[in-house]
Amino acid sequence: MAPLFLFGLSLTVSLLAISRKSVPFTRPAQMQTVTLIPGDGIGPEISAAVVKIFESAKAPIRWEERNVTAIKGPGGKWMIPPDAKESMDRSKIGLKGPLKTPIAAGHPSMNLLLRKTFDLYANVRPCVSIEGYKTPYTDVDLVTIRENTEGEYSGIEHVIVDGVVQSIKLITENASRRIAEYAFEYARNNQRSSVTAVHKANIMRMSDGLFLRKCREVAENYKDIKFTEMYLDTVCLNMVQDPTQFDVLVMPNLYGDILSDLCAGLIGGLGVTPSGNIGANGVAIFESVHGTAPDIAGLDLANPTALLLSAVMMLRHMGLHEYASRIQTACFDTIRDKKVLTKDLGGNSKCSEFTSEICHRVQDLA
Ligand SMILES: *[C@@H]1O[C@H](CO)[C@@H](O)[C@H](O)[C@H]1NC(C)=O
Ligand SMILES: *[C@@H]1O[C@H](CO)[C@@H](O)[C@H](O)[C@H]1NC(C)=O
Repeated sequence: MAPLFLFGLSLTVSLLAISRKSVPFTRPAQMQTVTLIPGDGIGPEISAAVVKIFESAKAPIRWEERNVTAIKGPGGKWMIPPDAKESMDRSKIGLKGPLKTPIAAGHPSMNLLLRKTFDLYANVRPCVSIEGYKTPYTDVDLVTIRENTEGEYSGIEHVIVDGVVQSIKLITENASRRIAEYAFEYARNNQRSSVTAVHKANIMRMSDGLFLRKCREVAENYKDIKFTEMYLDTVCLNMVQDPTQFDVLVMPNLYGDILSDLCAGLIGGLGVTPSGNIGANGVAIFESVHGTAPDIAGLDLANPTALLLSAVMMLRHMGLHEYASRIQTACFDTIRDKKVLTKDLGGNSKCSEFTSEICHRVQDLA
C-alpha cells in the first residue's frame, strides 16, 4: 500500500505544480461581461464612480456600455435598441442607472419596457441599516421580494358606465409559484432564516388566497426556512414599531411597491437602497431606484451609493462574494467615518471625492 500511496501523493503534488505553473499567480478570476446602462441625469456620473471603484477592487468584470433609449421598431412598436437587447441576451447581467421617460405621446416607461423585454418578474430590495447614517431605526436587516408582472398592476382597466371604472387585479398560479420559489431560494442562498408572505387573503379571498396557497405549497419544499404569513396592515404596524423582527418578505405587486419604499425609508431612503430585478432565463438587472436628479446632473454632486450597493448585490448574484464584501465594507466605512460624504449624506464632498475615498479603502482592504 505504501508505494501506491506515495505514488498518489507525488502525482497530486506534480499536478498541483502544473496547475500553479499554467495559472500565473497574479491572474484574476475569470472575467465576466456585464451590460452597463448609465442612464440619464446623474446616471453617467454615478456609473463612472462604480466603474472606478470596481477597477480599484480589481473585480473581474468587463463592462459593455449600452444606451436603452426606446426606439420605434417595425410596425411602430416601442422597443429597446437591438444592440442593447443583444448585449443583455449575451451577458445576462445588467447594471442600470436612473432613466427618464421622455414626455412624448405614447412613449412607454423605460422601466416597464425593460421589465417586459426581459420578463423581470421579481424585484428584490435588501434594506440594511447603515452605521453612521442616522435614521430613527437601527439594526434593520430585511429583504422585500415583490412580484413584478401582475396583480394590481396588470393594467386591465375599463369604464363600466359613465362615472364607474373597474380595475382588474390579476393573480396566476404560475406567477405566484415562481415568486414564492424565488423568495425561498434567495433565503437559502443568502443565509436568511425566514420568509413571510404578506397578503390580504381575508378580504381578497380568491386572488390573495391563490397567492398565499402557492407560498404555502412552496414552503413545504424548504423545511430549512421558517415560513410565516401576515396581513399587510399588520406588517405595516409592526414594521414601523420594530423592523428587526423581519427577514425576507414576499408579496404581490402593489403591496411590494409600497412596502419596499417604506423599508427603504427606514434605512435612509432611495439614495442608499440597492435593488435588483430578476428575470426569466437567468437574466438579472441591478439598478438604483432613485430619480435622475436633473438639477444636479453634471455638477459632480451626486451620491453613487445606491448604484454601488446595487452593483455589490450584482456581484453576490454572480457568486463573487469576496469582491462584494470588500466593496461594501469600503463604502460603509466611508459613510461611518463621516469625513468624506456627499451633500445628501450630510457632508460637503463631491461625488469624485467620495468615490476616491472608497477606492483607497478598497485597495487598503486587498
Ligand atoms: C441614446 O440614444 C438616444 C436616441 O438615439 C439619443 O438621443 C441619446 O443622446 C443617446 N444617449 C447617449 C448617452 O448616448
Ligand atoms: C403554467 O405553467 C405550466 C408549466 O410551465 C404551463 O404548462 C401552463 O400552461 C401554465 N398555465 C397557465 C395558465 O399559463
